[in-house]
Amino acid sequence: MRVLVTGGAGYLGSHTLLELLGQGHEALVVDDFRNASPVALERVRALSNGGAFGVERLDIRDAPRLVEAARAFRPEAAIHFAGLKSVGESGARALDYWDVNVGGTVALLRALEEAGCGLVIFSSSATVYGEPAEPRPFREDDPVRPANVYGRTKAAAEAVLRDWAAAAPGRAALLLRYFNPVGAHASGRIGEDPRGVPENLMPFLAQVATGRRAALRIWGSDYPTPDGTGVRDYIHVEDLAEAHVAALARARHLAGAGGGAEAFNLGTGKGTSVLEMLRAFEAVVGRPLPHEMAPRRSGDVAEMRADCSRAAADLGWRARRDLRAMVESLWRWQSANPDGYGTDG
Ligand code: NAD
Ligand code: WQD
Repeated sequence: MRVLVTGGAGYLGSHTLLELLGQGHEALVVDDFRNASPVALERVRALSNGGAFGVERLDIRDAPRLVEAARAFRPEAAIHFAGLKSVGESGARALDYWDVNVGGTVALLRALEEAGCGLVIFSSSATVYGEPAEPRPFREDDPVRPANVYGRTKAAAEAVLRDWAAAAPGRAALLLRYFNPVGAHASGRIGEDPRGVPENLMPFLAQVATGRRAALRIWGSDYPTPDGTGVRDYIHVEDLAEAHVAALARARHLAGAGGGAEAFNLGTGKGTSVLEMLRAFEAVVGRPLPHEMAPRRSGDVAEMRADCSRAAADLGWRARRDLRAMVESLWRWQSANPDGYGTDG
C-alpha cells in the first residue's frame, strides 16, 4: 500500500517505517523534525537497502502544503504518529498540545479527504485510561478518563477520528493505545533519541549506563506492588512496528465492511517493576548501575497493564519479544550511539 506516515522520523515512526518498507509498502514521511533527526531517515534508507519512501519536511498544521503533498502522493492509508508526547510538559504547554495533537489531527483528516484516503492508524496512548478503577489489565471498553493534558488531547483526537470515520461510509480509523514502548531496532542503528533530560525510565536508565547521567532516581518505593516500585507493561518497539502493519490490513477489512473506528491496546500483558527493569539492565551491561530511592512522581499510578486479547483476535498480532530483547536492543543502540543521532549537542 501507499502509506503516508506523519512523524515518520521519530522514535516509533522510524521503526514502523522500516517495517513497512520490509513488508513491501511504499511510504511518504511527513515530519517537521522538531523532535527528530534526518539521520534517522538516512539510516532507515540504508537498513532497507534504499527503501521506497519520500520525505516532506512540513508541519502537519500547514494545511496547503499538507494537502499538496497528500494529493501528489495519493495515499491509500495514513499512520499518524506526529504529535507532542510529554506528560510532564503538557500542563504548562496546554495550548501547544491541543493545537498539535488535536488541530494537527483535524488538518491531516482534511488533507486525506482531499486526497481521497479513508484509512487512518492513530498513535493513541494508555494514558487515555487514567487511574485504574480495579487492579486488572485495561480493556478497550474501560472508561476513557485521562488525568493530564497530554492524555486529554489524545482522547480528544480519538473522538475526532471516531466522528470522521462515522461521517461517511468506508472510512476506517484504528486507535492504537500504546502502553510503554521501549528498546530499539536489532541492528542498533535506530533508536530513541530524546532531547534534554529523558522523562521516561528506559532512556534515562540507558544514559545512566553510558555515564551521561549520574544515577537513576526511582520514583516511589511504597506502591502496593510486589517490590514497592511502579509496574508497567513495556513493549518492544519492533513488536509495536509490526502491529501497525497488521493494523493496515485490519483497517482495509473494516472499511470494506462499511467502516468505523476501533481501539486496540498494544502491550504484552506482562508487568515489570522499576527494580526488575533496573536488574534486567544491570544483567545486560554486566555491572551495577547507580540508583537511589526518591518520592513518588506526581500523577504516577502503581500499575498499568494491557489486556491485549482484542489485538490478538482482530489484528492477529501479539508481542513476541521479551524483556531481555528490549534491554539488549536498547543497550546496543545506546552504547553504539551514546549521543543518539548527534543532535543533542
Ligand atoms: P517522537 O517525538 O519521537 O515522534 C514524533 C514525531 O512527530 C517527531 O519526529 C516530530 O518531529 C514529529 N512532529 C511533532 N509535531 C509535528 C508537527 N506539528 N508536524 C510535523 N511533524 C511533527 O515520539 P514517538 O515516541 O515516536 O511517539 C509517536 C507518537 O506515539 C506520538 O503521537 C506519541 O504521543 C505517541 N505515543 C508515544 C509513546 C511513547 O512512549 N513513545 C506512548 C504512547 C503514545
Ligand atoms: C515508567 C516507570 C515511573 C523515570 C509515560 C506516559 C505514557 C506513555 C509512556 C506516551 C514509572 C518510573 C521513570 C525515572 C522512575 N507515553 N520512573 N525514574 O509514566 O508509565 O508512561 O510514557 O503516551 O503516556 O505517561 O513511563 O517511563 O516515565 O515511567 O522511577 O527517572 O518508571 O515512576 O513507574 P509512564 P515512564
